[in-house]
Amino acid sequence: MNNATVNGQPRIVVSGAGKRYGALQVFQGVDFEVGERDVLTIIGPSGCGKTTLLRCIDGLIPLTEGGITMDGEPITAPREGVAMVFQHFGLFPWKTVFQNVAYGLKLAGASRAEIDEKVPGFINLVGLSGFEDYYPYQISGGMQQRCGVARALAVEPRVLLMDEPFGAVDAQTREILQFEMLRIWEARPTTMVFVTHAIDEAVLMGDRVMVLKGRPSSVHEVIEVDLPRPRDRSTLLHPRFAELREHVWSTLMKEAKEAEFKV
Ligand SMILES: Nc1ncnc2c1ncn2[C@@H]1O[C@H](COP(=O)(O)OP(=O)(O)OP(=O)(O)O)[C@@H](O)[C@H]1O
Ligand SMILES: [Mg+2]
Repeated sequence: MNNATVNGQPRIVVSGAGKRYGALQVFQGVDFEVGERDVLTIIGPSGCGKTTLLRCIDGLIPLTEGGITMDGEPITAPREGVAMVFQHFGLFPWKTVFQNVAYGLKLAGASRAEIDEKVPGFINLVGLSGFEDYYPYQISGGMQQRCGVARALAVEPRVLLMDEPFGAVDAQTREILQFEMLRIWEARPTTMVFVTHAIDEAVLMGDRVMVLKGRPSSVHEVIEVDLPRPRDRSTLLHPRFAELREHVWSTLMKEAKEAEFKV
């Protein structure tokens, strides 16, 4: 982990975290830390609570056990400087692509001139130039997802929470966005918690891969990704990349086999 600290604390500290919805205990006893320039990827079976955990870190919903601090302060509500890319886009249907990307900047009190200067760059970055005036219903799922990424990046957040940000895009666009995201991160390293279903993506993006498992789920394993940065397409050819991917795969498969056995 990159141990850079803020106020002597890792940027995000999750301790003894548990979340219950009524009778359903989603996860429990979850502990981890994320440093200032640290990328933690989270992988685990569908329904294990990845989105729920991100929403707790974002301050959108409370934990039922344990706590989360950011820069040493307990999280009780959404905080400035924290941006989330939602699994299901989370765009405003009544706003255009431009207005959606501008939303966070506007909220932060940016002037019209600043918005007009910054927004086109982020729209261009995710390949949506020409679609500025389209509404979400007029663009594809993958384009909506890219719009969500641009909206989060536009506020230049200190903490980026990504919930399967490239889950709905085609394989080719996904690769392009992954490398684009790596480039953006290298240019301006931030704290990132990145949820994904894709093993390759978890290894490529992360400094560590955290595997959640079980019902209720808990941290099964944290795998250090000792691949050099900056990472790019050549990283995929690294022998260590294949080893790490295999490691994560076998951890997840063991989990899947155990679940199958129980059924
Ligand atoms: N608001 C809610 N009320 C009740 N139960 C909920 C709520 N949100 C999520 N759950 C339950 O919590 C569990 C975890 O859901 P969550 O969306 O966090 O999973 P996930 O790991 O993100 O899954 P996926 O990989 O499919 O996105 C599920 O069983 C879900 O039904
Ligand atoms: Mg989810």
